[in-house]
Amino acid sequence: MKKLNWCIIGTGAIANELAESLLRVNGEIYGAYNRTYEKALLFSKKYNIKKTYQSIEDVMNDTLVDIVYISTPHNAHYELIKKSLENNKHVLCEKAITVNSQQLREVMELANEKNLKLMEAMTIYNMPIYKVLKDKIDQGIIGKVKMIQVNFGSCKDYDVTNRFFSKDLAGGALLDIGVYATAFARYFMSKQPHKILTTHDEFETGVDEQSGIILQNTSGELSVISLTMRAKQPKRGIISGELGYIDVNDYPRATQATIVYTKDGSKEIIDVGNTTLALDYEVIHMEKSIIENDQTSLLYTHDVMDILTKVRHQWGIIYPFENKE
Ligand SMILES: NC(=O)c1ccc[n+]([C@@H]2O[C@H](COP(=O)([O-])OP(=O)(O)OC[C@H]3O[C@@H](n4cnc5c(N)ncnc54)[C@H](OP(=O)(O)O)[C@@H]3O)[C@@H](O)[C@H]2O)c1
Repeated sequence: MKKLNWCIIGTGAIANELAESLLRVNGEIYGAYNRTYEKALLFSKKYNIKKTYQSIEDVMNDTLVDIVYISTPHNAHYELIKKSLENNKHVLCEKAITVNSQQLREVMELANEKNLKLMEAMTIYNMPIYKVLKDKIDQGIIGKVKMIQVNFGSCKDYDVTNRFFSKDLAGGALLDIGVYATAFARYFMSKQPHKILTTHDEFETGVDEQSGIILQNTSGELSVISLTMRAKQPKRGIISGELGYIDVNDYPRATQATIVYTKDGSKEIIDVGNTTLALDYEVIHMEKSIIENDQTSLLYTHDVMDILTKVRHQWGIIYPFENKE
C-alpha cells in the first residue's frame, strides 16, 4: 500500500512530539511549514524532513501531500482546516479543533462533501485505556453510570503574550485544558447533556481563568467539571456507577485506572497503553480512519465543541475574530 505523506503545519512545542511519533509509526515525514520560515527549516533539519515550504500556498499546491497535521494556536485552526480540505488533503488538527461549533459544522460538511478525513488530535479518543474502560462500563461492571467528576488544573506563569492568556489567540482554560475534561466527561456519558450550568472567573486579558461546569443528560447522568489555570490540581477523572467507581489518574495520557466495587470494597487495577506513545496512537488512528473510511472520527468532537460553545456563551466571552452564533 502507498505510504501516506504527512505535512506538519506549525512547528512549535507539540509538533515536535508529533514528529517523533510520525518517525516511529511512519518512518519519515514528507513536509513541514511554519509561518516563520527559519523555524520550519530548523525543524526539517532536526527530523530529516524532505520538503520545507516557503508559503502555505506551496503546501496546498503540492498534490503529494496526503495528510496535514495542524498545530498552530486555536484561532488559526479553522482557516487552515478549510484550506487543506479545499485542496484535497486529509486533516489531523490539534485540540481544540475549532473555536466554536459553527466553525466545526462548516468544516465537517466540507470534509463530508470531499470524502476526506478530518480528525481532532485528542488524547482521550486515542489512548487505549479509555476504550477498554468504556467496554467494561458497557458490560455493566460498575452498574448504571450516575456521576462523573473530572478536573484539570495547571498553574501557568501569567504572560499576556502567551497563547494561553490571549483573547486574540482564543486562549483561556476552557479551550486549552477544558477540552480534555469535557471530552472525558462526554466519552463516558451515554448521551449528550441537555442541561449545562456554569460559573467562571476571568484573567485580566478577558479569557477564562477558572470555572465549574455541570452537565446533565436525560439518562440520569451528571458530570461535574472543575478547571483552573492558576492552581495545580491532580488530573483525575472518576466515573461512578450504582455498583462501583473507576478512578483514572494522570489523564489525559493515562495508562492506569482502579475499579473499586461498592459491595465489598475490592479493587481491580487496569493497566493499558504507554504514555510516551500518546501521539503514536493518534497517528495510527488517523491513518487507519483514512484506509478504512471510518465515519466515526468526529463523533465526540462534535458534541464536545457544542458543549464548549454553549458554556462560553453563558459566560459572554466572545473572541474578537468570532461571529456571534
Ligand atoms: N495534544 C497535546 O497534547 C497538545 C499539547 C500542547 C498543545 N496542543 C495544541 O497544539 C496547538 C499548538 O500548541 P503549541 O503548544 O505547540 O504552541 P506553540 O509552541 O506556541 O507553537 C505554535 C506554532 O504555531 C505557529 N503560529 C502561531 N500563530 C500562527 C498563526 N496565526 N498562523 C499560523 N501559524 C501560527 C507558530 O509559529 P511561529 O514560530 O512563527 O511563532 C508556532 O510554530 C494548540 O492548538 C494546542 O492546544 C496540544
